[in-house]
Amino acid sequence: MRKKRILSGMRATGKLHLGNYVGALENWIKLQDEYESYHLIADYHNLTTNLDTAEIYQNTIDMVIDWLAAGLDPVKSPFFRQSQIKEHTELHLIFSMLITTARLERNPTLKDQVRDLNIENIIYGHLGYPVLQAADILLYKGEVVPVGEDQVPHVEITREIARKFNLQYGEVFPESEPLLTKFPRLPGLDGQAKMSKSLDNTILMSDGPDIVKAKLKKAVTDPLKIRKGDPGRPDVCLVFTYHKKFNIQDEVEDIRTNCSSGALGCVDCKMRCANALNSILAPIIEKRKYYEANLHEVKDILNDGEKRGRAVAQQTMSEVHEKMQLG
Ligand code: TRP
Repeated sequence: MRKKRILSGMRATGKLHLGNYVGALENWIKLQDEYESYHLIADYHNLTTNLDTAEIYQNTIDMVIDWLAAGLDPVKSPFFRQSQIKEHTELHLIFSMLITTARLERNPTLKDQVRDLNIENIIYGHLGYPVLQAADILLYKGEVVPVGEDQVPHVEITREIARKFNLQYGEVFPESEPLLTKFPRLPGLDGQAKMSKSLDNTILMSDGPDIVKAKLKKAVTDPLKIRKGDPGRPDVCLVFTYHKKFNIQDEVEDIRTNCSSGALGCVDCKMRCANALNSILAPIIEKRKYYEANLHEVKDILNDGEKRGRAVAQQTMSEVHEKMQLG
């Protein structure tokens, strides 16, 4: 049976944190055998909230190294930059005719960004963020889009645009489905709902053991557990959320029991969490070192992915042109 096709991507955000890993990358890696996957570096999307492009290239390389170090296989799943495949901008333009501004203004993800970043006047390209994303997905006929919850509205817009195109010009595009991760959102070290670079509450995938320990030391815990001996409430504790995600089952049960009884203090609990995390990160950091020392390989991987991505994109655009009777 034909494998279904995945298209997913991330903006070029630089070194990834554990929230990116849990929310997306880990899932991409798990799915790469079952699906035919394509992974995009959405560098044009960066411009919607930051016009300064001086660091985009370095951020791209840093992010791609994290993808590789964590085990995303570029032979199975080509990686490419949006900016290097011109068909993205062309399909974006065509799609921009197939959706109203009122529909885009209702996008809840946009509303959240406007609030979080205190944006007073939205630029045209930011309003069109999901239109470019629809072009990203549909250029590769992505049927399955593994993303976090905040991206579901964008996949819905993608489906609407695909339907509209197919109705107007003839069947070219699939109706893409989002695929949510089981562990959609990792809270930050300060207890905020989201781990995010702009909130400065992250642990990076590239943080070494001492940094992980130091960061966890400062993590918030159950505010009612003030000293060792006080019974704790694992279910409201951020550090316990990390244990549940990153530690082995037996340890998690042991920590639950001993935190609740008061036998386990927060300092010890945090060190056990650091150990669990560090054992997951150690092999990733090792591989990262290899790619940092062999940057030409990273560049070759991108070039190869861009060639393979471009071939698919060009094929789709020739179908688009034919249906639209352009050219
Ligand atoms: N908007 C996505 C995010 O911020 C990034 C993205 C761009 C994307 N194009 C995509 C995700 C296509 C999935 C598919 O996470």
